[in-house]
Amino acid sequence: MFAAQKISQDDKPTLYRELCSQLQGLLQGEGDVIANAANASALIFEQVPDLNWAGFYFLKTPEELVLGPFQGKPACVRIAVGKGVCGAAVARRATVLVEDVYAFPGHIFCDGGSRSELVVPLIHEGRVLGVLDLDSPTTGRFDAVDQAGFERIAQIYIATCDWTSV
Ligand code: SME
Repeated sequence: MFAAQKISQDDKPTLYRELCSQLQGLLQGEGDVIANAANASALIFEQVPDLNWAGFYFLKTPEELVLGPFQGKPACVRIAVGKGVCGAAVARRATVLVEDVYAFPGHIFCDGGSRSELVVPLIHEGRVLGVLDLDSPTTGRFDAVDQAGFERIAQIYIATCDWTSV
C-alpha cells in the first residue's frame, strides 16, 4: 500500500519538490495511462492545498478532449480543441494560467465554485496527448511557482506512461 507522507505546505518549492518525489515513487514501474492518471489526481488532490478539482482530459481525436481520471465534482465530458481553458492549452501547446476565470473569455464552468485555473498540456514526442487541469476556489491561487511545479508533475506522468498503445 502507498501511504503518502503529509507534505508541509509552508513553502511552494518544498511542496512541489516533495510532491514530484512522491509521484515518481507512486507511478514507478507502472505504464498504464489511466491508472497513472487516477493515482496522480488522487495524490495531487490530497497534497496540494486550495484545489476543488484536479484531473486529466485526453485528446481522443485531433478535435476533442475527453474526460479522464480526476478528483472533485463531476465534470464536462467533452471539450473541443480551442474551447475553454483546456482547449486553449491544447491549441496553444502551452500552459494556460487563469487568475480569474470570469476574465477568461469562453471559460467552461464545470464546477461553479472554481475561481482560478491552471492547465498544462501533456506533450510527448511532439504530440499533444491531453491536459492536466487544476481548479481552485480562490481567485489568483496559481502563480509561476505552481505553473513550474505542475509542469514537472505532468512531465513525470508523461515519462512514466507507455503511450505506444494510445
Ligand atoms: N474549466 C475548464 C473545463 C474543465 S473543468 O474545469 C474540470 C475549461 O474552461 O476548459
